[in-house]
Amino acid sequence: MSLLLQPTDRLFVLTGAGVSAESGLATFRGKGGLWEGNRAVDLATPEAFARDPELVWRFYSMRRARHAECKPNAGHIALAHLETKLGARMLICTQNVDSLHEAAGSTRVLHMHGKLTESRCSNPHCPSEPFEDRKEYPAQSQIPVCKICGAILRPHVCWFGEVPYHMDEVLASLQQCSVFLTVGTSGMVQPAASFAELARRNGARTYYVGPENPANVFSFQEVFLGPAGSRLPELLRVE
Ligand code: OAD
Repeated sequence: MSLLLQPTDRLFVLTGAGVSAESGLATFRGKGGLWEGNRAVDLATPEAFARDPELVWRFYSMRRARHAECKPNAGHIALAHLETKLGARMLICTQNVDSLHEAAGSTRVLHMHGKLTESRCSNPHCPSEPFEDRKEYPAQSQIPVCKICGAILRPHVCWFGEVPYHMDEVLASLQQCSVFLTVGTSGMVQPAASFAELARRNGARTYYVGPENPANVFSFQEVFLGPAGSRLPELLRVE
């Protein structure tokens, strides 16, 4: 069985935590997930950062350390290989803050929830830009301040209650795609959970790959059950 793509297809790929699970990064929901027990979820908010930046930075420092040890898996590699065939007709929009798509060789990747390996000024009015930063700041005294305005730095990730990044590009690309593929996301977090339905109503063929049905399963024409690391290499073919 394969998910046959024509050379003229325009492919939009939405990925979630599941695509990185086989690389050793925990997903959010379910057993052993980062949000299990609901303690960590309380750290991913602007309010939590204002209340206790040290605690929030400790959490993201721990995730940076784990991320530094991980490598892309066969699912990331299959998607990167597909980009060599489809070029600008393929875009990956990931909810993941890891950089494993890029490490596998993908170049057309939008991080709608930001990147673990970037920091930015916590002052929303500061003109400074996010920048690459892989350092860990487990103690309050280690958290650097912005060179322009002096506010403390924060991870460049989208927290609950904040607007995801790159949405104009994402929505434009969604409208143009003829094939919409989702990999490894539970379909529970908006706005990403609505993308499949938007694409389907626009006439795209919609597919899901993951070990279980997502919450928005009704938006997919076909569901390929199984882990991304083995399903993607066998499914992704260009005719
Ligand atoms: P979830 O933890 O909600 O869902 C992970 C999905 O991956 C589940 O549906 C699993 O079945 C699936 N999965 C597990 N192992 C897999 C594998 N080997 N191959 C393929 N799929 C697998 O993670 P997300 O849906 O990505 O947002 O979560 C969405 C957002 O919620 C995250 O970006 C994060 C979180 O709160 C923010 O932090 C803003």
